[in-house]
Amino acid sequence: MIKFTLVSTFFLLAACSRDYAPTSSATGETIFKEACAECHQPKDPTIPQVVFSLNEKNANERYITHKVQGGSLMMPKFPNITGSKMRSLSTYVLNHSVAQ
Ligand code: HEC
Repeated sequence: MIKFTLVSTFFLLAACSRDYAPTSSATGETIFKEACAECHQPKDPTIPQVVFSLNEKNANERYITHKVQGGSLMMPKFPNITGSKMRSLSTYVLNHSVAQ
């Protein structure tokens, strides 16, 4: 219990949280445009399908989910993107990434 409290406190300090929640009809693409595109744009406008360049070990649904739901110092967390909506968003992100 103490450990859980410390971990939650750390996340509260580390990342701000966004209330954004996808509508029931939202696709991975609409979620991305509504919640992510303000910060994540293609690095090269002539290659619009590549938004992320992910480390090979991070190019998976588990990592994207962790990043979106947990946030980081620089990125807000999105606790209301869950379940099938989170899976659709991960698929969209992975389809718009190169792994290296
Ligand atoms: C307010 C700006 C902001 C928003 C909104 C935002 N991000 Fe981020 N995101 C960042 C920053 C800055 C980083 C790089 C620093 C880091 O990894 O924390 C990042 C990193 C990431 C990474 C890791 C990339 C890597 O190289 O490992 C992924 C994946 C990601 N974001 C996905 C998303 C998704 C999906 C959304 C929408 C739900 C989103 N982000 C919304 C700012 C944002």
